[in-house]
Amino acid sequence: MPQPVARDLHSYGNPGEVVVRHLDLEWDIRFDRRALDGTATLEIERLSESADTLRLDTRDLSVAAVHLTDDGQNWSSTRFVLGNADPILGAPLEISLSTGATSVRVTYSTSPNASGVQWLECSQTAGKQHPFMFTQSQAIHARSWIPLQDSPGVRVTYRATVRTPSALRAVMSAANQADAPLSGEFTFEMRQPIPSYLIALAVGDLQFRAMSSRTGVYAEPSVVESAAAEFEDTEAMMAATERLYGPYRWERYDLLVLPPSFPFGGMENPRLTFATPTIIAGDKSLVVLVAHELAHSWSGNLVTNATWRDFWLNEGFTVYLERRILEEVFGRARVDMEATLDRATLAEELARLESPDQILHVDLSGRDPDDGMTQVPYLKGELLLRLLENTVGRARFDSFLRAYFDHFAFRSITTGDFVVYLEDQLLSEVETGVVDALQLDSWLEEPGLPANAPLAESDALTRVAVQAARWAGGEVTAGALDTAPWTTQEWLQFLTSVPDTLTADQMRELDDAFGFTQAGNSEVAHLWLLTAIRNHYAPAYPRLESYLIEIGRRKLIKPLYDELVKTTDGRARAEAIYDRARPGYHPISVSSIDDVLSR
Ligand code: BES
Ligand code: ZN
Repeated sequence: MPQPVARDLHSYGNPGEVVVRHLDLEWDIRFDRRALDGTATLEIERLSESADTLRLDTRDLSVAAVHLTDDGQNWSSTRFVLGNADPILGAPLEISLSTGATSVRVTYSTSPNASGVQWLECSQTAGKQHPFMFTQSQAIHARSWIPLQDSPGVRVTYRATVRTPSALRAVMSAANQADAPLSGEFTFEMRQPIPSYLIALAVGDLQFRAMSSRTGVYAEPSVVESAAAEFEDTEAMMAATERLYGPYRWERYDLLVLPPSFPFGGMENPRLTFATPTIIAGDKSLVVLVAHELAHSWSGNLVTNATWRDFWLNEGFTVYLERRILEEVFGRARVDMEATLDRATLAEELARLESPDQILHVDLSGRDPDDGMTQVPYLKGELLLRLLENTVGRARFDSFLRAYFDHFAFRSITTGDFVVYLEDQLLSEVETGVVDALQLDSWLEEPGLPANAPLAESDALTRVAVQAARWAGGEVTAGALDTAPWTTQEWLQFLTSVPDTLTADQMRELDDAFGFTQAGNSEVAHLWLLTAIRNHYAPAYPRLESYLIEIGRRKLIKPLYDELVKTTDGRARAEAIYDRARPGYHPISVSSIDDVLSR
């Protein structure tokens, strides 16, 4: 297998000399101490004969011992040095190798503050009876719970044995046995080589509900039925993606619904997407997230960004695929709505970001790769692919992408690798003038949005914007608006279209007519609460508080804190709410909200 040529600035690993190929993991899950105790056994391959050191990434790990074996039978302890910790990268672990070493075993414990693990009290779960824990490794948090070469350019297979309290079930981003008895011990195997950021574990009171022969949902008992109903189109999405981009290579596709503190919408852990419960709206209106995480089974998990500056290869491709899946399953009008809403989001993001952060092939040297998680890799990346599709035609672009996934399957590639392949396989057949007009270099290496960016337009959303303007201009009352046929996306458009500044009467009129303060849809409630903060609409404050305490998904809560701190009153409210909410948030959300409140 070819080795990464790109230097990964976010790993201390030395995979160019000694590369890790397989992991055998064994842990006791200690809820009492908020720790994983156990061993990671790393099978290594020496690429340089003279190499006598294996260098790994760690963060906040206590390493008790390191052993080596030549034959898999006899183990002897070896010298290791855990270096100084860098605030972003963690600490390198240097292990001295004997000439014949084939495997290295690290005995270690995680810290209660591990950045990649959240430990939940019973009260933070749906059932309130059992504790819960889950990991979130992307971008560079795997190193906080496993000592490894934590770079997306290094792929490993793995096996794991996980010991849990007896009432609980463990699941991983691997082959899961849904019918395994609650024996206190679970075993897993991931046969396909994956990058470290896709290794994932969760333990809790979990039940399984099948949706089709190869899709299903894991969730707490009180959530599993509604989750299965919400996500019932997953099989149709898989079939559509396979028709477009070739076979699904991971056998099963299951979803795990986490408690609401999960800091993201979804995480594409292979074979087992982790998802926030805030997308269970009751009407499938937010299942675009499933299309997105499923699409990563091709763009990201099969063909992976080699370093974090190539993150747009994961996310831009995935948003493009997500839209194509949505079009197949829910039709073009729905895609037009999502694309139009996102186009506005991108414009706002570009207005907010410094120039260097508007670049797809972003320079992240000296920075936390999580800083690169803006709308740019997602939405500007998607627009570039859309532009390519429009330029060569859908049929040609589809066969190009299908071949791309085959060609780079189970490999990690850079932006440069993509450009070479694109030029060879697609652009070489296109007239020079047309290629030049693409301005590929400007798309990849320059800030802003090139003038040839495709436009998004939705007739349905245009009609909503017109209605919002008529209401804001006093031409019609809220009650008289024709909102009966509106979908969630239309409500979101309505809330984005009304003026930022509204009178107290207007706020009350909207709330009386549409019950926004009690909105069950997490995205609609989010936009309403933003409007409420901007306009000092006190009746929404109790909901604001419960929303910020119950939900830990960063995308839904951070903009609310951002808006609150703009006024003195708001800041006081934010501080008071955050004092109560912070203990329940995930380390990733804590670090973002700490920044907002300068804590
Ligand atoms: N892989 C990302 C989540 C991620 C990115 C976690 C970078 C940590 C670092 C996932 O696929 C994603 O993009 N999730 C989005 C949802 C989506 C529909 C855009 C999210 O969580 O909001
Ligand atoms: Zn994604």
